[in-house]
Amino acid sequence: MWNTVLLENKEGIAILKINRPKALNALNAEVMSDLQDCLTKIAADAFIDVVIITGEGDRSFVAGADIGQMQPLNAEEGAAWGRLGQKVMTMIENLPQPVIAAVNGFALGGGNEMAIACDMRIASEKAKFGQPEVGLGITPGFGGTQRLPRLIGPGRARYLLYTAEIIDAQKALEFGLVDMVVAPEALMETAMGVAKKMQKAGKFAVQQTKQCALRGVEAPLTTALEFEAQAFGLCFSTEAQKTNMQNFLNKNKK
Ligand code: CAA
Repeated sequence: MWNTVLLENKEGIAILKINRPKALNALNAEVMSDLQDCLTKIAADAFIDVVIITGEGDRSFVAGADIGQMQPLNAEEGAAWGRLGQKVMTMIENLPQPVIAAVNGFALGGGNEMAIACDMRIASEKAKFGQPEVGLGITPGFGGTQRLPRLIGPGRARYLLYTAEIIDAQKALEFGLVDMVVAPEALMETAMGVAKKMQKAGKFAVQQTKQCALRGVEAPLTTALEFEAQAFGLCFSTEAQKTNMQNFLNKNKK
């Protein structure tokens, strides 16, 4: 359906692969267009419960935005490209389903920005992370200056953003940039295992919890707590809440 993005639905768990392995899955205009289309489809698909994003091949998640395509841009075109990248990363972040980044190799620049737009990150021991943009004479442009400090704190984020240092998976775990590190051959199985746990939980409850976690961090605590109260209340109008609680009560009577 798309050239640069592959989408497979494995019993409700969607695996979205960035598919430009010869360029280490660098994000060019075609990938961004395919991604917008694919993410729109995923968001509207009631048969997708969880999404796993990874890179095709065994070397790279995404090695950043396409440097060949960016080199000739002028200031206006650069800003437009950055806005497009921000839009796509925000589409990932805003998907109703939980999104797991299964980081199988390089997650650099726009690749790290894609990983941090996901709900969580599981990394292969071979993965490498960084924001090399300043070395290319640019700022990170797909949300990295904003999402990275929010995720790992200002000090460590500024360290990575200003030094362009590339860190390995273990250091990324210490920094709180990734949530788990596993052997390369266990990466997809681990991500599927986490996805299945979420799938087993109530779908509506998981999606509402995601909305609270996502929107809450941007809001003052009183507003965020009100999001939570509304989401909590809404769950009481679902069949899942009535059934799951009744099942618990029935089990305890035996
Ligand atoms: N853009 C375009 N092409 C890229 C690319 C990128 N970001 N990263 C890798 N490639 C291409 C290479 O040009 C090469 O293509 P050819 O075979 O046609 O020459 C192919 O992928 C393999 O790459 P290398 O030969 O360089 O592989 P390596 O193992 O020697 O090095 C690497 C791997 C360290 C990841 C190196 O490719 C690299 O440094 N890539 C660029 C990483 C980077 O700076 N990313 C940030 C981009 S800027 C950005 O993302 C801005 C933003 O905020 C959105």
